Amino acid sequence: MDKFVVRGGNPLLGTIKVSGAKNSALPCMAAAILTEDEVILENIPQVQDIETERKLLTSMGAEVELGYGRAQHRTHIKCAILSDPVAKYEIVKTMRASSLVLGPLIARTGIARVAMPGGCAIGGRPIDLHINGLEAMGATITQDHGYLEARADRLKGAHIVFDKITVTGTEDLLMAATLAEGESIFENCAREPEVTDLAALLIAMGAKIEGAGTGTIRIQGVAKLHGARHRINPDRIEAGTFLIAGAITGGDLNVDCCEPKHLGALISKLEQCGVKIDVGADHVRVRSGGELKAADITTEEYPGFPTDMQAQYMALATQAEGTSTVIENIFENRFMHVQELIRMGANITISGRTATVRGKTPLQSAAVMCSDLRASASLVLAALVADGETILDRVYHLDRGYEHFEEKLRGVGAQIRRMGDVFGRK
Ligand code: UD1
Repeated sequence: MDKFVVRGGNPLLGTIKVSGAKNSALPCMAAAILTEDEVILENIPQVQDIETERKLLTSMGAEVELGYGRAQHRTHIKCAILSDPVAKYEIVKTMRASSLVLGPLIARTGIARVAMPGGCAIGGRPIDLHINGLEAMGATITQDHGYLEARADRLKGAHIVFDKITVTGTEDLLMAATLAEGESIFENCAREPEVTDLAALLIAMGAKIEGAGTGTIRIQGVAKLHGARHRINPDRIEAGTFLIAGAITGGDLNVDCCEPKHLGALISKLEQCGVKIDVGADHVRVRSGGELKAADITTEEYPGFPTDMQAQYMALATQAEGTSTVIENIFENRFMHVQELIRMGANITISGRTATVRGKTPLQSAAVMCSDLRASASLVLAALVADGETILDRVYHLDRGYEHFEEKLRGVGAQIRRMGDVFGRK
């Protein structure tokens, strides 16, 4: 298993580029299932989850050509024949987003067999809302040996009010509804930019969708979708991670190729912390003299403060003067970075869904363990300001979602390198 070795102390200076959003790319790749024509996606990030999705689609009979190195990271997907509409456990066990193929598979082929998903260990993470929605659209769903099997001759449009806001649930049902018979109205939908990005692709494929990005989405089902070309949005979580990297190290960092409109909640929080922010059309410059003030956050659905930035923000809070309260509203078990931050010298207490961070505490290097994707990023951020050399184990969690993370950080002055396992294990 690869490790990162990080020596703290350098302010990050210069320009760092943001890649395409993993969480947009995953549903957009799944959307290719809905047509037998070719779908071309640009700005697909080179991360492990995308490789997992490539394997998943290929195992079903699709042709997928990931165009890394080529201009725009252009990826071609053609699902002309889906000979085996099964998402096998061996492939999906590391990635919860594999439940995204459920809706498009049943809509296109009338049958889907999907292993119950794995992914980040941040809470129970059920998919009952996906299942209830597909049943409301006329699918029959059974479960056996860890697999869900869904069947329907043709899905029917339905009026669905989500009990709870779910990002991939909204995306899954949105894809299913594009080929359903009649109209679907979904309420209490996720408004995340990734939903809007997916809807833009689906509309380019011939789907009739109104209201994506709002709480209510209307879809008129069509008989067939066709191929399309689409560029994936910049990754707002990667951009946010870099903004915090600039702020925590007392740097001057230009986070380029991002969409500042998607970063509103984080930017205003950083400003409360005393960080200077300049927003351009597609870049955000972050400057900090190293003097940070505490500020509280509560994670919420978009446009609130993203749960996917909570762990990184917590690293920053350890370096702010005063007490910051961090409330995690979305997932019940998303404080796994806390124990590791404490081992590095942070003063954090947890009570239920609330973490209280008392700063500023000097951080010391230590051997730490990455537990999930965003927790890994949090530990790298802490290591960038720690005294000495921190060794981060299990960085495969980070590789699921950050493209060339260490190279990008090295390019702006971080001392970070990857160390392969002496036994060659992955
Ligand atoms: C997506 C993102 C993930 C992010 C999360 C919240 C992708 C691939 N992943 O995950 O990075 O952290 O949104 O912004 O886009 N829930 C249910 N039943 C369901 C589905 C969800 O109870 O059927 C609950 C979850 O347990 C959680 C909440 O709803 O408490 C939100 O989860 P959801 O928005 O579905 O997260 P994901 O789509 O899995």
